[in-house]
Amino acid sequence: MLESKKIIGLMSGTSCDSIDAALCEVMPDLSCKLISGINYKYPEHIRAKLFQIFKGDSSVKDLCQMNFAVGECFANACQILISEFGKPDLISSHGQTIYHYPFDEKLDDLSLKSTMQIGESSVIARKTGCMTVSNFREADVAAGGDGAPLVCFVDDRWFKKGTAVQNIGGISNVTMVCDETFGFDTGVGNIMIDYCMNKFYSKPYDKNGETASKGKVCESWLDCLMQDDYYFKNPPKTTGREYFSPNYIENALKFAPEKPEDIIATLTALTAKTIATAYERFITVPINEVVVGGGGAYNLQMMKFLRHYLPNHIELKTHEDYGISNNYKEAMAFAVLGYCTYYNIPNNLPSCTGANKRVVMGKLTNC
Ligand SMILES: Nc1ncnc2c1ncn2[C@@H]1O[C@H](COP(=O)(O)OP(=O)(O)O)[C@@H](O)[C@H]1O
Ligand SMILES: [Mg+2]
Repeated sequence: MLESKKIIGLMSGTSCDSIDAALCEVMPDLSCKLISGINYKYPEHIRAKLFQIFKGDSSVKDLCQMNFAVGECFANACQILISEFGKPDLISSHGQTIYHYPFDEKLDDLSLKSTMQIGESSVIARKTGCMTVSNFREADVAAGGDGAPLVCFVDDRWFKKGTAVQNIGGISNVTMVCDETFGFDTGVGNIMIDYCMNKFYSKPYDKNGETASKGKVCESWLDCLMQDDYYFKNPPKTTGREYFSPNYIENALKFAPEKPEDIIATLTALTAKTIATAYERFITVPINEVVVGGGGAYNLQMMKFLRHYLPNHIELKTHEDYGISNNYKEAMAFAVLGYCTYYNIPNNLPSCTGANKRVVMGKLTNC
C-alpha cells in the first residue's frame, strides 16, 4: 500500500549557486506539495574547490575529500529544515554532478559512458538520522541511457499534454509532455552568462537580466554561436559543464562585441534562441504552452527574448503560474523520484534518456 511521505528533496545543479532543499509531502499519485524550502549556499572555499574540480585542476584526494564535505553540506541544509519541521520520512539527494560523460566510447571493449554525483549519502544519513536515497543517474546509464534528463518523469505526471516544460539552469533542458513524453538538453542556460558576469563585473549572475537589458544583441556573434554542432544534434542528447567549459567560452569570446553589456545581452538571446530553435527542429508534436522553471525564469530579459523567438500562438508561463516554485521545482522532482525508489517504482523515462529499459533509479542508505 502506497502512503504519502514527507521527503526532503536535495538538488544542486551545474550552476553550483546553492543546494536547494525542499521539504515536500509526496502523494501516492506522485503529486507533491512544497511545505518549505531553503537555498543553502556552499561555504566559499568548498564552492571554489568544486570549480577547481570542474576545471580539471584537482587530484583524486580532492575528489575523495569533497565527496564527504559536500555530503556534510547537504546534511547541513537538511538540518535547517529538520530543526523547524522535524525529521522527514526520507531524504532524496541528487548530489552535485562533477562529471557527466554520456558518450558511447569504449576502452578494451568496455563502455566508458558514465556519470558522477558526489555528496556521500552515508554522511547525510548519519548526520540527519534519516534514510537517504541518492545516486539516481547511474542506474539509467547502466541500462544504456544517458542518465539525463530525469525530471521528465515528474513533468509527465505534473503537466498536461502539449506543454513544453523548459528548465533554464546552468544548462537548459526541455520536457515535451505528450503521448510519448520525451526530453533533451537544449544547450546552454545561464552558464555562459554567469561566466561573463563574473569575468566582466565580478558578479555571480545577471540579476533579473538587468545587464542584458542595457546591452544590444550582436547578431553576427549570435549567428556564429548558433552554429555549434550541439544545437544540430538529434535527441536524445545531454550536455554539461564539460562541453560548455571555460575554454569553450573563452574561445567564443574571441569574436565577441566590445561592450560587456552587449556580450551579456547576446548570450541571453543565445539561450532563448537555441531553445526556440530546438523546438522548431526537434519537436514535431503541437506545443500549446511553454512553462519555464529554474533560475532563468527570474531573468526578465531572458523571458522577453523567449517571447520574441517563440511563435506567437505558444503561451509563455513560468512554474509559479502553476503554483510550483521555479526555485524548488527540481528539488521537489527529486523528492518524487526518491519516493519511487523507496516503493520500487520504475522512475526513469527511456524516451528521454535513451535507456533500453524502465528501471528503478536511486540507492537507499539506512541511517
Ligand atoms: N533573479 C535572477 N535573475 C537572473 N538570473 C537568475 C536569478 N536567479 C537565478 N538566476 C540564474 O539561475 C542560475 C541558477 O539556476 P538553477 O535553476 O539553480 O540552475 P542549476 O540547476 O544549474 O543550479 C544562476 O546561476 C543564475 O544564472
Ligand atoms: Mg542551482
